[in-house]
Amino acid sequence: MNSKKRACEEIGIYSEEYVLSADTSQDKLLALVDTLNQKDGIHGILVQLPLPAHIDEDAVINAISPYKDVDAFHPVNVGKIMIGNYNFAPCTPAGIMELIAESGIDIKGKECVVVGRSNIVGKPMSMLLLHSHGTVTICHSRTKNLAEITRRADILVAAVGRPEMITGDMVKEGAVVIDVGMNRLEDNKLVGDVHFESCEKKAAAITPVPGGVGPMTIAMLMKNTVKSARLK
Ligand code: GUN
Repeated sequence: MNSKKRACEEIGIYSEEYVLSADTSQDKLLALVDTLNQKDGIHGILVQLPLPAHIDEDAVINAISPYKDVDAFHPVNVGKIMIGNYNFAPCTPAGIMELIAESGIDIKGKECVVVGRSNIVGKPMSMLLLHSHGTVTICHSRTKNLAEITRRADILVAAVGRPEMITGDMVKEGAVVIDVGMNRLEDNKLVGDVHFESCEKKAAAITPVPGGVGPMTIAMLMKNTVKSARLK
């Protein structure tokens, strides 16, 4: 949470942080969301996920005003992303699109393989790549012959949450490899879903963990918040 607060301070966005105890009731959390929905000076609301097991995540996401949903997790905003006409871009996928664009890579007609089908990354990522005219394949834990599919990718996005599972032999020569993973190992080391050393040898471009996708996600969160204020 600290990095989001710091980013707000750096660029002059007023922010409020509510650190609730893990046993906070769902009703109490929903009441807080509602207060912030009504509050004039607040243009963006982010509820940090995952939530404790006793809280219904969908109920909380549904309670956030779609106009303040800077994560773009509310079903209304998810639907808009699906259609391709949206105000709030999903932060992590949008950050990845910026990285790809800034690197001068054209997505049109490229084989894009997304490993992971989460609502936060895998699904919206696939939509953004599709809107940019990529040929998109979504892989997941039940996918057969995963390596065969990842080896086809011109652009490979790993968002599975399994430490270093994408290895060099799964990557095509000259591919663009994007690592969304944030896995904390037992020795406290932070690693991605991509085995960097072996994949770096094959890739034309590759993002590190930490320092690749993560800071871009926060930048996109700031962008959505400013956009929300402007739209208001
Ligand atoms: N937990 C992991 N990623 C995210 C994110 O982008 N937004 C929120 N709210 N929680 C997360």
